[in-house]
Amino acid sequence: MKRVYIQTFGCQMNVYDTGKILAQLGKDGFTATQDISDADVIIVNTCSVREKPEHKLHSFLGDALKLKRETDRQITVAVAGCVAQQEGGKLLKRYRELDLVFGPDAVPRVRELLTAARPAVGTGTRQVLDTDFIDLETYAFATDLDPAAEGQVGSFVTIQKGCDNKCTFCIVPTTRGAEVSRPSSEILAEVQALAAGGTREITLIGQNVNSYGLKVDGEKTFAELLYAVAAVPGVERIRYTTSHPRDMGPDVVQAYRDLPQLTSHLHLPVQSGSDRVLRRMKRFYTRAHFLDLVGQLSEARPDIVLTTDFIVGFPGETDEDFEETMTLLEEAAFEGSFSFKYSPRPGTPALRLLTEEVPPDVAQARLLRLQDRQREMSLAAHQSMEGQSYPVLVEGPSRHDEGVICGRTSTFKMINFPGDLGLVGQTIPVEVTRAFTNSLRGEITSRT
Ligand code: SAH
Ligand code: SF4
Ligand code: F3S
Repeated sequence: MKRVYIQTFGCQMNVYDTGKILAQLGKDGFTATQDISDADVIIVNTCSVREKPEHKLHSFLGDALKLKRETDRQITVAVAGCVAQQEGGKLLKRYRELDLVFGPDAVPRVRELLTAARPAVGTGTRQVLDTDFIDLETYAFATDLDPAAEGQVGSFVTIQKGCDNKCTFCIVPTTRGAEVSRPSSEILAEVQALAAGGTREITLIGQNVNSYGLKVDGEKTFAELLYAVAAVPGVERIRYTTSHPRDMGPDVVQAYRDLPQLTSHLHLPVQSGSDRVLRRMKRFYTRAHFLDLVGQLSEARPDIVLTTDFIVGFPGETDEDFEETMTLLEEAAFEGSFSFKYSPRPGTPALRLLTEEVPPDVAQARLLRLQDRQREMSLAAHQSMEGQSYPVLVEGPSRHDEGVICGRTSTFKMINFPGDLGLVGQTIPVEVTRAFTNSLRGEITSRT
């Protein structure tokens, strides 16, 4: 039995790609292992969206190559994902014992690549590189189901790859290439297969899901796709990520009125509350547009919970600009957010703004202030849920205690409560007994 160990960094796209890699390697007799010292093949699926995740690759690779050097077995080491795409051959030069570097578009070819990089014992090493982008017409999404996804309560389904936007801070268009929408027939077939296997919650993923299908003649729009997924028997909940506020139209807002399967949570990255900064980021919406959208969504779905992403310390961000981000946080009443200090990325347009770099200590102070206020707001929102009961889709055992299981509300709140694993996959009423900043504690109740 051959074993593969995959370390995944980065976003939902990488998590999904890892699943697809495992599905394909399964056909060559590989099983996944959680123990790196046991592996015949080690793959690190990387992220380069900021400097920090990129650094994780180098410490991981150092350890993996040391293991390769110190064992008698033949171990093949590969780098996949966004740093692979960005650095390509430079990685092979820097790490002479690295066997394979392949970008996100090469995932469907992983079996051949690995065979090429894993020559018969004694024939020496061969470094293999594949960072080609496939052109739009011939791009084929990997269609095998990830073995681990089968029978899971929730599953990701990719609906598009790449991104045609040019947000000035962002490396993703460089590492993932142009936007390609996956044919809706293929998406629906995958959703049907997952639902038939017991999956209850489908998360549609892409970098800019709201532009799905717009560039393909006759293809469904994103809103139409939502209605089609909701019509698949067995699909109880639909989530999606990531949305771009500019491209979210009235038809998607309407779907929140029409589709009970669409959950009451939306992650809508705003990045900044200042129009001046948004302009320099080339996000192509204003604060007023964003708040109007928030208003429309709340009207269509009164219990909707919004979360977001913020970048602080974007070059040229003044104290006044940052105050606008702080007031937007209140006005949009976000219940959670990911916030980051701006991190310069190779080849991105924002680099030419770096003459106006925000001093690191100023950026750090802004980040802490934003995060403190967000924590207070998240906790207050969670405390207001205490004593109330919500339908919870049970996902599995809690990470914390024996005999405790966990699941999520429609609003994406994680809730831990005593219960039996036999409930996994069912939606049951749970009363919130205690609120924390990032999760809830509860008890099963008969009251709904
Ligand atoms: N496609 C998604 C986001 C992809 S990247 C979207 O358009 O919203 C995820 C998040 O990382 C972004 O929302 C942004 O907040 C953050 N990010 C991206 N590039 C960054 C950079 N150079 N520095 C700091 N944060 C960054
Ligand atoms: Fe990056 Fe902007 Fe595309 Fe999101 S929409 S992936 S932030 S370029
Ligand atoms: Fe990172 Fe690539 Fe995703 S840069 S955030 S893994 S698209």
